Amino acid sequence: MSSSQTKRPLSSAKAGPLSGDIRVPGDKSISHRSLMFGGLAIGTTKVTGLLEGEDVLATADAMRKLGAKVIRDEDGTWHVTGVGVGALREPDSVIDMGNAGTGIRLMAGIVATHPITTFFTGDASLCKRPMGRVADPLSEFGAQFITRDRGRPPMAVIGTDEAKPVTYTLPMASAQVKSAVMLAGLNTTGTTTVIEPKPSRDHTERMLRHFGVDVDVKVNDDGGRTVSLTGPVEMKAADIVVPTDPSSAAFPMVAALINPDSHVTIRDVCLNPLRTGLITTLIEMGGDITITNEREEAGETIGDLVVTGKNRLKGIVVPAERAPSMIDEYPVLAVAAAYADGETRMCDLEELRVKESDRLAAVAAGLEANGVIHRIEGDDLIVTGGVVPGGGMVETHLDHRIAMSFLVLGLGAEKPVAVDDANPIATSFPNFEGLMADMGAKFTLHS
Ligand code: S3P
Repeated sequence: MSSSQTKRPLSSAKAGPLSGDIRVPGDKSISHRSLMFGGLAIGTTKVTGLLEGEDVLATADAMRKLGAKVIRDEDGTWHVTGVGVGALREPDSVIDMGNAGTGIRLMAGIVATHPITTFFTGDASLCKRPMGRVADPLSEFGAQFITRDRGRPPMAVIGTDEAKPVTYTLPMASAQVKSAVMLAGLNTTGTTTVIEPKPSRDHTERMLRHFGVDVDVKVNDDGGRTVSLTGPVEMKAADIVVPTDPSSAAFPMVAALINPDSHVTIRDVCLNPLRTGLITTLIEMGGDITITNEREEAGETIGDLVVTGKNRLKGIVVPAERAPSMIDEYPVLAVAAAYADGETRMCDLEELRVKESDRLAAVAAGLEANGVIHRIEGDDLIVTGGVVPGGGMVETHLDHRIAMSFLVLGLGAEKPVAVDDANPIATSFPNFEGLMADMGAKFTLHS
């Protein structure tokens, strides 16, 4: 999304029971990777169910600029013909990754060990986000980085053709950093190893295997993981069926839980165990969520969620260890907590400060504007739930999940809740408003 685009203020109002049998868009993490890995593989990869949000379309464009052929059929099937690991060509213009942190960081890993120079930029939100977390380990391979002050994009990556393999211990739980290092390892002679103290989403490991790469994963004594691969590798095209995104399913799920008598089925959701922290948490809070039709597809677990609003939620303590498995879901969990009886404490949310916005500050400001009692202690967010007065205007700071979370808050509040700009929703959930409205949600556009 361009930051110069005119803002689109939107509000939501008390909805009553929601009902529907829905499919949210494809998983964002898996969609990005399917285009990147397809573009590195030999042969043509067919991708169905791809998220056609702005973040992923930016990745499609980036892979084209690097030489891959990326085509969309009229029926929404994508075909990616790869160039082979090591054979990316130098882009002749700047690559604009829009709002996508995953896009820019994983792409940085890919180009770091190709002998090309790549220039990346993004929107106003992305240009505030730290790239040092990938530039540091990728420099150890021999790549060079030029960024603005404090590692912010625009960013130039001068790749190396004499990459040295790296063993890197992650200083934070981050699948993006883990993936950037593993992807740099694909075109590096020798074994690249990432040690992660807390397990983060493992779509890279699973999908690389699906493309024929031997990825070794060991569970460490402290519960962390050691992931390694030996390059250079050859990747073989492999079709991908993208499951629907649990981080997007989170919005109709919480909307159903906070509206008594709701009954919503959400189909084909990715239930990778490193992504299901929110479901675990909402069930602990008393939420009525049932998983049905569980199955495996393209290396991922998938299932349907049946959610009702029959139980009132209650406050709980959400442990710090669970954060990586629900890192994108805290804004909407804070909304669920606003409707729960008692206090919900969400522990150790430091990483939220460097997402599409400073999400800890953005969530606190949104709760404040709508009369929800809350406080921040260190990196913990504590919300006291009950009746939500609403009536506030929330600043979204180019953050899709802040926009959607507070629109869900309004669906049960005494007075409507407005967000200053609904445009960012298109980065991950382009049909959010239509799909929610079909279930009974009430939105009003303000000029
Ligand atoms: C992602 C990893 C997470 C998550 C992001 C997607 C990925 O980021 O917040 O939306 O696809 O690898 P971090 O690695 O910064 O935790």
